[in-house]
Amino acid sequence: MIVLGIETSCDETAVALYAADRGLLGHALYSQIDLHARYGGVVPELASRDHVRKLLPLVQQVFDNTGITKNEVSGVAYTSGPGLVGALLVGATTGRSLAWAWGVPAVAIHHMEGHLLAPMLEPNPPDFPFLALLVSGGHTLLVEVEGIGSYRVLGDSIDDAVGEAFDKTATLLGLSYPGGPALAALARQGTAGRFRFPRPMTDRPGLDFSFSGLKTFALNTWRESSRSGQDRADIAYAFEEAVVDTMVIKCRRAVALTGLQTLVIAGGVGANQRLRERLGELMDAEGGRVCYPRPEFCTDNGAMIAYAGYQRLQSGQYESLSIKAMPRWSLEELPAVKL
Ligand code: KG4
Ligand code: ZN
Repeated sequence: MIVLGIETSCDETAVALYAADRGLLGHALYSQIDLHARYGGVVPELASRDHVRKLLPLVQQVFDNTGITKNEVSGVAYTSGPGLVGALLVGATTGRSLAWAWGVPAVAIHHMEGHLLAPMLEPNPPDFPFLALLVSGGHTLLVEVEGIGSYRVLGDSIDDAVGEAFDKTATLLGLSYPGGPALAALARQGTAGRFRFPRPMTDRPGLDFSFSGLKTFALNTWRESSRSGQDRADIAYAFEEAVVDTMVIKCRRAVALTGLQTLVIAGGVGANQRLRERLGELMDAEGGRVCYPRPEFCTDNGAMIAYAGYQRLQSGQYESLSIKAMPRWSLEELPAVKL
């Protein structure tokens, strides 16, 4: 069984082919970052139009690079939500139509399930059950994972997602969009102990997150500083430490609550080195382990969608001929896959 995966939920057009017997055959990605950078964020209509331009050539590129032909594809998986509705519709319409033309089933994939399963593409993948910390530009979720499709959301963000907080703080420090990786790089030059930011919602029980206050705290700290290069780096450092510390505290609580010993970190912010280091230390201390995908599979990619699609198709799940785009969609609504 070979599955074509398509991802177009936000500002990356991504395609991959996954084979039951050989694993990931190939993948390709086109990032729209340059298109949106001058607006300081993703412009939905521009994103949809660019997906229309780039998606089919990218599918062709993956076929060319892998030597696989359309006759060998046994199913198509496309991201059907959550995300920008216009962007999702491009992938959903294209995926559904290709599957119809090729006479194979199509399956609609939840973007965050894709992120959650991405570590399965790496050596030494996690065994079920495990805890997952999903940290992206749109979501901050702590999830108890029993198996594929059996998800219990333990914690969620009540305001900004963690990636969004990184990006907004980066913008106010004068870094270009999306500033998460640039802010993390700047933090490496920061001095420990110069500024101290709050650890939001850690002073009360529960596993929910709130990051919008940190951005305001960063703005006020920046305004009150002398606005030197070192001030900027020190604020970046203090911000990153506060975010990472908050996530470590919540993960420690989630481990205590569930007794689970494996922690998966995925989504774009999962590429953050400091977060990986600190959560690695936490799970060492707990006698467990952390698993994460390689950095390029932390951020949006087609491989995670092809893999999730393969799992669902091989268990007999597929969609009707309708085109499914779900801008809002909870992980808890997904059907379980029987292993
Ligand atoms: O998963 P993703 O590619 O897209 C969404 O599903 O949202 O995540 C993108 C987010 C952006 O906010 C980006 O700034 C952030 O992940 N990000 C990082 C790092 N790399 C990407 N944030 C902090 N440190 C990083 N190294
Ligand atoms: Zn994502």
